[in-house]
Amino acid sequence: MKPEIFNFFTTLLEKTSGISYREGKEYLLESRLTELAVSLGYKSIDDLYQKLKTSLTPQLLTQLIDALTTNETYFFRDEHPFVALKNNVLPELFKLRQKDGVLNIWSSACSTGQEPYSIAMLILEHFSAYLNSVKVNIYATDISISAIEKAKKGVYNQIEVNRGLPVQYLVKYFKQNGANWEVDPRVKSMVKFEVVNLLEADKKIRMKFDLILCRYVLIYFAKETKEKVFRTLWNALNPLGYLLLGATELPPYTPPDMEKVMIGKTIFYKKKG
Ligand SMILES: C[S@@+](CC[C@H](N)C(=O)[O-])C[C@H]1O[C@@H](n2cnc3c(N)ncnc32)[C@H](O)[C@@H]1O
Repeated sequence: MKPEIFNFFTTLLEKTSGISYREGKEYLLESRLTELAVSLGYKSIDDLYQKLKTSLTPQLLTQLIDALTTNETYFFRDEHPFVALKNNVLPELFKLRQKDGVLNIWSSACSTGQEPYSIAMLILEHFSAYLNSVKVNIYATDISISAIEKAKKGVYNQIEVNRGLPVQYLVKYFKQNGANWEVDPRVKSMVKFEVVNLLEADKKIRMKFDLILCRYVLIYFAKETKEKVFRTLWNALNPLGYLLLGATELPPYTPPDMEKVMIGKTIFYKKKG
């Protein structure tokens, strides 16, 4: 790819989504752009570049972001965080929130929905006794319009339900529909999906949360973007609330009211009371 074209796409993507394709990721950018160009009927990345340079419509930008995000996810991803949620974090939060009767959870880069649905199922399975007195709101957001559309449908193929989902959950919380499996309405009704760009979440999200998940997305951001997004997440967390990052991710800075808590094999970042 010509340096001019590489710079055009990397700058555009960083500005609009925070995702950085620099540092040795040129090959990935090239293969994803080639796929996008072909799917939109262009002969090459050069042709796509000429089009975007002169008329970048919101629709084209959406398609570009969709094509260049990594949406890899699966049910109960990494397993250990969900064990910690079940045994420690959720029991504590349900007790804490019993007085005001509302527990707010934010899955902030939820991809195609497996992460927030895993939490909803975990709650139905182990905390149903609380559900008469505590209303659980799971807010699930992502920048990718196509990922959110799929998440809202809640329909997964056999390969997707084979990844991480215990068979007893499949039987209990999904309905088979031909070759696919659809999430039960009880689970769906606990999750509200919306397209939200984490770069703009500080202006968009007015609620406070008791638990925030931001897993495997900060890794794609440059340092300053990471800091900005982390600040947004931290500000959106209630005192005594928990933030969970991906297993390989670290906070870009340490807020004074942050406590690092190791629960089983998982590190949570708890806001001091
Ligand atoms: C690798 S997936 C992780 C999904 C899920 N959190 C998990 O751990 O399984 C990363 C997600 O981050 C989303 N993403 C990337 N940049 C974003 C941004 N600026 N705002 C919101 N979501 C973003 C992508 O669309 C993608 O769905």
